[in-house]
Amino acid sequence: MNNEKADIAIIGGSGIYDGNMLDRVREIDIDTPFGKPSDSITIGEHGERTICFLPRHGKGHRISPSELNSRANIFALKKLGVKRIIAVSAVGSLKEELAPLDIVIPDQIYDRTRSRPSTFFEDGIVTHIGFADPFCPEMSDAITEIADSKGYSVNKGGTYVCMEGPQFSTRAESRVYKALGFDIIGMTAIPEAKLAREAEICYSMIATVTDYDVWHEEDVSIETVIANAMKNEEAVKAILMDALDRISLEQNCICKNALAGAITTAPEMISH
Ligand code: ADE
Repeated sequence: MNNEKADIAIIGGSGIYDGNMLDRVREIDIDTPFGKPSDSITIGEHGERTICFLPRHGKGHRISPSELNSRANIFALKKLGVKRIIAVSAVGSLKEELAPLDIVIPDQIYDRTRSRPSTFFEDGIVTHIGFADPFCPEMSDAITEIADSKGYSVNKGGTYVCMEGPQFSTRAESRVYKALGFDIIGMTAIPEAKLAREAEICYSMIATVTDYDVWHEEDVSIETVIANAMKNEEAVKAILMDALDRISLEQNCICKNALAGAITTAPEMISH
């Protein structure tokens, strides 16, 4: 490894990273106790700050949502000293008023995943952290303000239901999620958000709506999802460019002390 350090990380599709975003760009490979992250990490300078970029599904989109090694991804970012993660994710809409190409900065998650390692703590160490507010409120507010000031159609808050995938929902599932009042649906926020909180890293998401899911549409077409995600790339990049300048590097939020309030038991800590 090397002595690289970074302040803010972006996790997203490879279309989001733009050569103009960073100066003095280098690529680094990081190993972790959980294996290798999705790909090499691009790191560079943005003004006074050091920023890194991790393509969530690997370059060329090789890794399915259920197969992502999110523990390696978040561990690698922690190793770089990252304090803030901005995740970018394509989502389906469960509300008429959230149209394709709209942007949502979610504030809640409903976890419907089934088979993903979701904690760093195991093998005799049990740790329960608070996760009532899964996204960093401070950073999400700042990102919403930036998107708003740029004139984008941005929704502040909303519940992201995270499904397992990789298949899209059945119509029955989609109708139930809608009836339960969820706003958007995607496949990647969990376990990223959980692991970021365990690592005491702030985590916020820029969710870009690509489709109306099957409560509304005949089917979710992957062509439409990709085409609309690409249409939103410029907007996301513009928001990121400002966010990378303006987001405070000082964490004044619940995220930074997540483990201070945690309940941890390890065999040596239990009195007999
Ligand atoms: N990502 C983009 N659109 C989606 C949808 N309708 N369901 C799940 N994930 C998505």
